Amino acid sequence: MRFQLLAKTGHPDFLDLPWDQPLAGWEHDRLVEMPMGIHRHVVRTVAYGERLYHLKELPRRYADREWRFLRYLREEQVPVVEVVGVVSRRETPDGESLEAVLLTEHLEYSVPYRLLFLRQEHHAIRDPMLDALVHLLVRIHLQGFYWGDCSLSNTLFRRDAGRLAAYLVDTETGELYEELSTGQRDMDVDLAIEKCAGELLDLQAAGVLSDEADPFELGLELRERYHQLWAELTTDEVFADDERYRIHERLRRINELGYDVDELELIQDEPGVTRMKLKTSVVEPGRYRRILRQLTGLDVQDNQARRLLNDIHNFGAWLQQDEGRSLPEALIAHRWLERSFEPVVEIVPQELTGRREPAEVFHEVLDLWHKWSTQEGTDMGLFNAAHRYVAEILALMPEERRVAPADSDDETADALPDPMADTGTLRLEDLAGLTDGPDIGASEVEERGAATTPDASQDARSVE
Ligand SMILES: Nc1ncnc2c1ncn2[C@@H]1O[C@H](COP(=O)(O)OP(=O)(O)O)[C@@H](O)[C@H]1O
Ligand SMILES: [Mg+2]
Repeated sequence: MRFQLLAKTGHPDFLDLPWDQPLAGWEHDRLVEMPMGIHRHVVRTVAYGERLYHLKELPRRYADREWRFLRYLREEQVPVVEVVGVVSRRETPDGESLEAVLLTEHLEYSVPYRLLFLRQEHHAIRDPMLDALVHLLVRIHLQGFYWGDCSLSNTLFRRDAGRLAAYLVDTETGELYEELSTGQRDMDVDLAIEKCAGELLDLQAAGVLSDEADPFELGLELRERYHQLWAELTTDEVFADDERYRIHERLRRINELGYDVDELELIQDEPGVTRMKLKTSVVEPGRYRRILRQLTGLDVQDNQARRLLNDIHNFGAWLQQDEGRSLPEALIAHRWLERSFEPVVEIVPQELTGRREPAEVFHEVLDLWHKWSTQEGTDMGLFNAAHRYVAEILALMPEERRVAPADSDDETADALPDPMADTGTLRLEDLAGLTDGPDIGASEVEERGAATTPDASQDARSVE
């Protein structure tokens, strides 16, 4: 059998697979069925123990491109699937050449869009989905990457502290530039709108998406939000010398959106008038993830990171009051991991760990702890809330680490009520105290009962 495998280390060698046959015809013990988005190539899934890999058969030059782009984007911290290898120079036993195969590792806890709409009411999905797509588009465009194929099928969605995070899955049509022109960006957004609207119309035709949803209006909103975010992150700003505070305001707003600015260029074109120039290359996403990773070693998604930092902040206020002295951030974060995060996550029994990622479990427990304590008029304790969450909510949820194919075939299934739909989501206003970093030391002191009690920022959060 002749073929060439270019692969990253840390994965199986895949040598037991029948590379000398067209992928569509494979019959092999490792093959498993997975629900997938609409796709043009043959895509199949294989299991090696706990790990799942998707194999896509396509012409070699496209496979090589996709391998390069996915690696580049991942290095730049863009949320993409992890590419594992490319198999090329394949031949059948008769010497007939076969297309290449691109291997990616299955993105755990990702939910295909069709299933999101099947499982949840569209009002609950619409906003988070739009937001996730807009952030993903802006993020790749800041990187100089033109996607050319943005669609719901080419995006995987993961829960992100009550919102969604979008991951890019299919990049073979992409193009990489030093910087994108406005025309290129607009074209990418137009294509995205067209494709997503088509997919939503299909969902409506299949009865999965309610007729109330308007795919065209959604597209227009996508464009508007995209332009808003892009402008906030990149537009040059002109101000007079006595308006210097506006630099700080702008930077603060950018931080609130989860971006850091590495470098600022201030230009005096004429006396008394300064221009603040923001180069796309210095606007860096993932601000809260970075802060959280430094403090705790936890690697989670953007919104989850905000949520956890917010809780560390509140925990720190309580801890400092309890101990009667101010404590370094790193110590507070360490104690929070030991006394709050880890014990809560460990309450989830092994057999239910595939339903939600640990950071998402923690987020949902925090929300419910607040909600239930408010309803009962007394603090029920974080750990009690976690036990109740596991018994009453998590136990009834479907598996999400690996979605079973049967879940997406169920065309007649009604949307399940989302148990978290009325618990509110984290808003930027809630993060006012975090915009300059976690700033854990300088916080108001709050009571934290048994383990911890609902805190001021959660009380202030409106329950939707
Ligand atoms: N690494 C991955 N993790 C999870 N799902 C994946 C992964 N790779 C592919 N998929 C699923 O397979 C589908 C098809 O893959 P894609 O690369 O878009 O193929 P095509 O180029 O044929 O459109 C996607 O819509 C997605 O549902
Ligand atoms: Mg695709």
